[in-house]
Amino acid sequence: LRIGVLASGRGSNLQAILDQCQAGLLPAEVVVVISDKPGAYALERARAAGIAAYSVPVKDYPNKEEYEQAIVRILQQFQVQLLCLAGYLRLVGEPLLKAFPNRIMNIHPALLPSFPGLHGQRDALHYGVKISGCTVHFVDEGMDTGPIILQAAVPVLDDDTEETLAARILEQEHRLYPQAVKLFAEGRLEIQGRQVVVKTKSK
Ligand code: GRF
Repeated sequence: LRIGVLASGRGSNLQAILDQCQAGLLPAEVVVVISDKPGAYALERARAAGIAAYSVPVKDYPNKEEYEQAIVRILQQFQVQLLCLAGYLRLVGEPLLKAFPNRIMNIHPALLPSFPGLHGQRDALHYGVKISGCTVHFVDEGMDTGPIILQAAVPVLDDDTEETLAARILEQEHRLYPQAVKLFAEGRLEIQGRQVVVKTKSK
């Protein structure tokens, strides 16, 4: 499976996927990493792993549509089959959704549909929930609204700060995202309306 990754920052989820691929545990290959932020550490991680890395700043394009079309062209050039958003801070629009129908995944640091948006950990903490976690989902036109693939829960502790909670969740993210990608690579994810059914492994 040829994977493209879209990231805006640190890229630790990208790294988790890369590590699993390199260990031979994921029947997949990250073939290109794209960032809207030229300085994103995710691009450094890609280069260090010998993977093509592109920065595509939105300000270089007259509008969001053409910006996304530029990304689509790169992804198609690399024959990407699955696009993984990993800390990508923008809402995905029509050019990408049309080019990769049911082939875009995202990871969110909360148990959706609770606490969508850019501050999942902080919002969960402020709300006072006792359990939070992370969600891997397919991407649709909404903000963190697509069909849920996998979720993992972590406790929220009384003395948690945004940082300690985020770190506890991140540990689960690094386990969960490669697992979801693996299921996709094995052809085991079936979308039935809002529900993603995980099929058992065929022999
Ligand atoms: C993660 O918390 C992810 O859930 C959210 O953005 C963060 C990205 O971290 N979407 P990283 O860039 O993968 O380290």
